[in-house]
Amino acid sequence: MSTKLRILSLLEKQQGDSISGQTLADSLGLSRTSIWKGIKTLQKEGYIIEAVTNKGYRLSTKSDVISAETIQPFLLPGLQDFSIQTFKTIDSTNTEARRLSSKDSIKQGIVLSEEQTKGRGRLGKSFYSPSQTGIYMSFYLKPNLNMSDATLVTTATAVAVCFAIEKLTAKKPQIKWVNDIYLGDTKICGILTEAVSDFESGKVETLIVGIGLNVKEPSAGFPSELDTIAGFLTSSAENGAFDRNLLIAEIANQFYTIYQTIEERSFLEEYKKRCFVLGKKITFKERNDQFEAVPIDIDSHGGLVVQMANGHQRTLSYGEIIMKKPIE
Ligand code: BTN
Repeated sequence: MSTKLRILSLLEKQQGDSISGQTLADSLGLSRTSIWKGIKTLQKEGYIIEAVTNKGYRLSTKSDVISAETIQPFLLPGLQDFSIQTFKTIDSTNTEARRLSSKDSIKQGIVLSEEQTKGRGRLGKSFYSPSQTGIYMSFYLKPNLNMSDATLVTTATAVAVCFAIEKLTAKKPQIKWVNDIYLGDTKICGILTEAVSDFESGKVETLIVGIGLNVKEPSAGFPSELDTIAGFLTSSAENGAFDRNLLIAEIANQFYTIYQTIEERSFLEEYKKRCFVLGKKITFKERNDQFEAVPIDIDSHGGLVVQMANGHQRTLSYGEIIMKKPIE
């Protein structure tokens, strides 16, 4: 572990209390000058470390920098052999996950970035990913799944994100089929699952699951086209205490736990409980036609079973539904 990370780890253990430069130096077997240089490097990376006279250094809980070293200790044992890569900026964590997964040496892992310059959403849309206000994370996995079960992963991920938010906050997120997470009437999270499959076996070779979660309001606000649609998890009053690393670890743990038994589909009940479109009027488009329907169930593949205006039932397996008023 580098000097900088060893210093960071000791500062984190103080949980907001100060530790003297001498104690840091003695504990790490380093000179005071090396400690000072390490502290400067961490500050440049965005960590808020205060030098308190006669007390030493103190890592502010407001630091909020995504770091693999902070996330790792909170991960379940099954995730300990996942590679975790963090970036200050990247085109897209899904694209990077695809690049990494094509290297034979790396089997599975998590890619995180403070910012994405080409964040991608479903159906060819872009995903607004400004610096340090969200969580942009992608899992890449080598599952033993058929293509039909791979589609379940998106639904499973939506449940995992809800579980993580519910565990760490008092919020009650809800799901808009298939992969949008809402708080009240604004979308705070989207999920983009991409699969590389083996044509002959019909099995999924690599699965990439991307999660984009708006944690705080971007300092410049959302672009005008997202202004009425997009929301965020924590208001500015709560921001100071909110730790994105902890939420990332919790999402990873919840995802991993559900993913282990995904074929049993038990998470679908939890999905249904949070799926606010069930029983409400929706519209959906097919080619150039628009239809009205009422969703009545989620099937065993995560498809949306809808009652059409003519009384027939249909199951939608992809695409987008529109609800004029998300929550009444
Ligand atoms: C959607 O709402 O349509 C899905 C949005 C998915 C965004 C996430 S952010 C992390 C990962 N990298 C991407 O480029 N997209 C996904």
